[in-house]
Amino acid sequence: MLTPLPAPIQQINSAIAHRANVELSVLRLDLMHPLVNGNKWFKLKYNLLEAKQKNFTTLLTFGGAYSNHIFATAAAGNLLGFRTIGVIRGEEKLPLNPTLSFAVQQGMQLVYLNRETYRQRNTPQLQQDLQQRFGEVFVIPEGGSNLNGIRGCTEIICEAAEFDTVCVACGTGTTLAGIVLSLHPKQRAIAFPILKNGEFLRQEIEILLKNTPKPNSFPASWELVCNYHFGGYAKVNDELLLFSQQFQQEHGIPLDYVYTAKMFYGVMDLLQQGFFPPGDRLLLIHTGGLQGNIGMKERSHF
Ligand SMILES: Cc1ncc(COP(=O)(O)O)c(C=O)c1O
Repeated sequence: MLTPLPAPIQQINSAIAHRANVELSVLRLDLMHPLVNGNKWFKLKYNLLEAKQKNFTTLLTFGGAYSNHIFATAAAGNLLGFRTIGVIRGEEKLPLNPTLSFAVQQGMQLVYLNRETYRQRNTPQLQQDLQQRFGEVFVIPEGGSNLNGIRGCTEIICEAAEFDTVCVACGTGTTLAGIVLSLHPKQRAIAFPILKNGEFLRQEIEILLKNTPKPNSFPASWELVCNYHFGGYAKVNDELLLFSQQFQQEHGIPLDYVYTAKMFYGVMDLLQQGFFPPGDRLLLIHTGGLQGNIGMKERSHF
């Protein structure tokens, strides 16, 4: 069913890391489950448990047309016997792209909201309208980004991982917040926003951290590295594509172009600049998202 495999840790043998005297390993969350994997597994875990405990039979959530979260929620709902409704940003485009046709195959009902209405998705008014239209539904916010999502992400780092610095791609910062809350005070986290002008996330992440009950009273330090967005969300260029292909050939690890490729590129670039202190042990989190590569190929014609 939805029981995940433990995420393996893969050592990376890289000349660049070797020259920088830094150890590199990857936590392969992408391998935990064929359909519900990456950070999505963790963001959904406590949302699904709460929905079951409260006897909801329907999950309703939000996302863009290529959303990893829509894909994972549709699959998880199907595996666990929930009805699912996906509220999609923008107009319906037929034929459906690979993400949305997968969601429909899993039994998800799709509902489209124009971009302006979609922006109201977290307001009580729109939530009430949706409840009126669909009855009693358990609402999971876009991306699984709520307290349950953060709580799940505190479980990403497995006990066995030995490292000083953890690196992760960052969209909303929910995954980063969970990770930071689970680190030892001497460890640190570095997040790579994939949105342009990602500096705004600093404040949002501070708020997430402030509002989440802390398992650890001395939270670890964290920082944002904002210059590896490649033009913004879902933007790619030839350099990034070539990097991903070469990385996969050399290390056998596929990367998604929207999130992990940008973070891995950033880490390799920073290694060459001497950003990490000698002796640093880096743990790179592979947050999954590989389903998006199929749609990305369609979108960008590469
Ligand atoms: C594959 C992948 N990696 C990283 C992220 C970034 O996660 P967050 O929004 O929690 O920062 C996402 C979005 O959820 C994602 O789908």
